[in-house]
Amino acid sequence: MQSKLEILILAAGKGTRMRSDLPKVLHQLAGKPLLGHVVDNAHALGAAQTCVVYGFGGEAVPQALADDKLTFVLQAQQHGTGHAVQQALPALADDSVTLVLYGDVPLTHTATLRPLVAAAQAGKLGLLTVTLADPSGYGRIVRASGQAGGKVTRIVEHKDATDAERAIAEVNTGILAVATRHLKLWIATLKNDNAQGEYYLTDIIACAVADGVEIETHQPAYEWEVLGVNSKAQLAQLERIHQNEIAQALLESGVTLMDPARLDVRGTLACGRDVAIDVNCVFEGRVLLGDGVQVGANCVLRNVTVAAGTRIDAFTLIDDAEIGEINRLGPFSRIRPGTKLARDVHVGNFVEIKNSQIDDGSKIGHLSYIGDTTMGKQVNIGAGTITCNYDGANKHRTVIGDDVFVGSDTQLVAPVTVGRGATLGAGTTLTKDAPAGELTLSRVKQTTIPGWTRPVKLKKES
Ligand code: UD1
Ligand code: CA
Repeated sequence: MQSKLEILILAAGKGTRMRSDLPKVLHQLAGKPLLGHVVDNAHALGAAQTCVVYGFGGEAVPQALADDKLTFVLQAQQHGTGHAVQQALPALADDSVTLVLYGDVPLTHTATLRPLVAAAQAGKLGLLTVTLADPSGYGRIVRASGQAGGKVTRIVEHKDATDAERAIAEVNTGILAVATRHLKLWIATLKNDNAQGEYYLTDIIACAVADGVEIETHQPAYEWEVLGVNSKAQLAQLERIHQNEIAQALLESGVTLMDPARLDVRGTLACGRDVAIDVNCVFEGRVLLGDGVQVGANCVLRNVTVAAGTRIDAFTLIDDAEIGEINRLGPFSRIRPGTKLARDVHVGNFVEIKNSQIDDGSKIGHLSYIGDTTMGKQVNIGAGTITCNYDGANKHRTVIGDDVFVGSDTQLVAPVTVGRGATLGAGTTLTKDAPAGELTLSRVKQTTIPGWTRPVKLKKES
């Protein structure tokens, strides 16, 4: 039987160079904490337990990831990566294999990690290395007889390395997998008699070699898979790499992107066939775009489903809403949480809709606020219509029946109901229900005063 997998994520570091009060691993990449990306990988690999070693920032880290079914272990003082692992060892089962990941290395593909786990399950030590043009600062992989194909004998940290060792371009990513009982054995023997006075996890490589455990190295497909975040510049760099990966996958699946470099997905974006997205759009949370959906430039969509054939024009913001088929939204529309638009709905410029249901074929073309409203089919809302849903203390609903025509500059003071087929004259302030099929208006009768003249400016006496 294969040993179960447990994953250990080191995340206690301060991240001084981030110049922030927020623990480094909580800084966001694609709208999610760095640590969240690593936790996602742990879940994707089917870890039986995922253990996070935290330290800097106190309880902020466990609090931020409270929903993720994680084991948290506090490393109150950071005495090195070996010391960090040691804190978590009591939480790990003897008969498991442990994969060590880092909370500040967010973009590793699971395909890169699987062979390491397999090596550990086969009784070896799986080690992820990478060959860099500039290896300075990293731990170097020392191989027997100095040859590329030679067996790994140990890892030497940059600060402890000789000039000859510093010339080695193959470096330690820090990511490794090994039988937990071996880890427990070797970690107990670590010493801190090195340049940094730290307990180095990397020293277990020499332990493994001494105990006859084979070291199997793997390299990632891309160098950036093993890059850590130490500064805002590196965070921005990895964000671009990640966004480019997402954009390339969308292009691959047939989505038209006017410019893959000007797209931001902070969550998941699922698209049907023949979807087209113009520049500078931001997608947050879970967004689903049906077949043939077109999104104009500079739109922000968060937790939205958009059904087939709908066109969203430029500068439209949609948050937590359900958009039906062949709608036409924008430019400059704002759709707020709790809104559901049925089929063939039109929402035009400077229209805000909140917590409302709009049925088939209804149109709100210009400059309106529709809040807490149930609107029927084929309703026409004139420009400048406002539902007055708030009395200063409570919210009230407006109900508008099918085939209603609302004239421009109308206020509907909720709670109020407009019967089916009713017409409201322009400028109406509706405070009582309007009966079905009738014209209702609250306008003062238009009069003309014959011979009226405009006032003239009085001459000042000097
Ligand atoms: C480590 C490796 C080095 C490797 C490099 C890759 C060791 C001794 N060295 O060096 O071989 O090339 O990573 O980036 O392991 N951490 C804790 N608690 C601690 C110390 C560190 O949680 O007490 C965490 C940090 O938050 C960080 C990670 O471990 O995420 C790496 O620590 P860091 O101090 O950056 O190690 P390096 O010196 O870069
Ligand atoms: Ca580091």
